Amino acid sequence: MSILKIEKAGSPVLKKVCQPVGRVDGRLKALLDDMADTMYKSNGIGLAAPQVGKDLRAVVIDVGDGLLEMINPVITEREGSEVDSEGCLSVPEIFGDVERAACVSVEYTTRFNKRKKLRAEKLLARCIQHELDHLDGVLFIDIAKSLRREEKEE
Ligand code: CO
Repeated sequence: MSILKIEKAGSPVLKKVCQPVGRVDGRLKALLDDMADTMYKSNGIGLAAPQVGKDLRAVVIDVGDGLLEMINPVITEREGSEVDSEGCLSVPEIFGDVERAACVSVEYTTRFNKRKKLRAEKLLARCIQHELDHLDGVLFIDIAKSLRREEKEE
């Protein structure tokens, strides 16, 4: 396992529409492991493959309820709308208010090549929408209603 370099806004890979993953193999599992390590080390709650330079439709998420790995995720339902603050490991020290669906249903493949469905609300719904946007080359700063700079605490 290793900590990967996180691409920052301006990097071309963050603007790509990422490629679907074929059958999950050892290489992809190793990438997911490294992405989770990198996310936890950076105190993030989500990380998408393009953020570590990989043009692939895969994300890892942990909003405090355990690690979720989503391969080829697709949002199948959106309900309601909510505006809340977001940040991104690829856009350090910038935060912004983003309007998202309040509730989403998402379908995705697991590392065991099983297709699963999940219904999410609150922070998890927001995080899923943010990470899936990365797979289509969209950063939260592209869609935020307002942005502000906040120096790191600590
Ligand atoms: Co992000």
